[in-house]
Amino acid sequence: MQIHARIADLRAALKGRTGVVFVPTMGNLHAGHISLMEQARAHGNTVVASIFVNRLQFGPNDDFDKYPRTFEDDCAKLTAAGVDFLFAPTETDLYPEPQEYQVEPPAIQNVLDGEFRPGHFRGVATVVLKLFNIVQPQAAVFGKKDYQQLMVIRNMTRQLALPINIVGGETVRADDGLALSSRNGYLSLEERAEAPRLNRELKKIRDALKQGEMDFGKLEKQAQDALTVAGWKTDYVAVRQQSDLSIPTSANVPLVVLAASRLGTTRLIDNIEI
Ligand code: PAF
Repeated sequence: MQIHARIADLRAALKGRTGVVFVPTMGNLHAGHISLMEQARAHGNTVVASIFVNRLQFGPNDDFDKYPRTFEDDCAKLTAAGVDFLFAPTETDLYPEPQEYQVEPPAIQNVLDGEFRPGHFRGVATVVLKLFNIVQPQAAVFGKKDYQQLMVIRNMTRQLALPINIVGGETVRADDGLALSSRNGYLSLEERAEAPRLNRELKKIRDALKQGEMDFGKLEKQAQDALTVAGWKTDYVAVRQQSDLSIPTSANVPLVVLAASRLGTTRLIDNIEI
């Protein structure tokens, strides 16, 4: 695997390559990321990953400084996964001057996660557009665990007519249902044992919807109450339309149930498509 930190070096290395598929990450890679690398291979013949902890998408109270940085381990995992190129810029490489031109996503950036993390999706869209311009892939893979992020990127790519196929990668879970996430590493042993409850509550909502329950508000509240009783602090549990994350007016459209909740100081998110 070739590793490049500078934009010019990566561009030179990729010159003339066709079939580039890109998987952007913030590092601290786990089996979920590796599965995205494997899925990337089906969409082209050169897989480019990136590792960059993007300050722009972290709020003042977020975990930017303590976000786990495990570069050596990550490189070993990417090499074993057969990734061809890694772009791993420093902040000065990617943002040599203050990033004053930014991508302002529309209203979707203010709901669900966006309501609790103001500016987050602006930071994500800005860095992803910049990375797309550097790597110029024909396809890019993003995990469905960050469902709203995937939607923001899809919409941006479509509206800005970027010639990039955006692929949604399935969420990888531990045996007990917990979605794999770099933030799971923050959990104490006790919290780790409790964490799968989030997925269990989403599954309960899924099962009730499948049985014809239409009172979305009731289902959301039941899940939120169950989490609260178990010591969680919930930002949202929401049944939404898959197409645009709006509140559904019927159960006869593809739905997704999303949640974000805090266990101790760790904020976990998860979702299930119905
Ligand atoms: O999902 C992530 O890891 C990040 O939001 C991304 C897409 C790499 C942008 O920094």
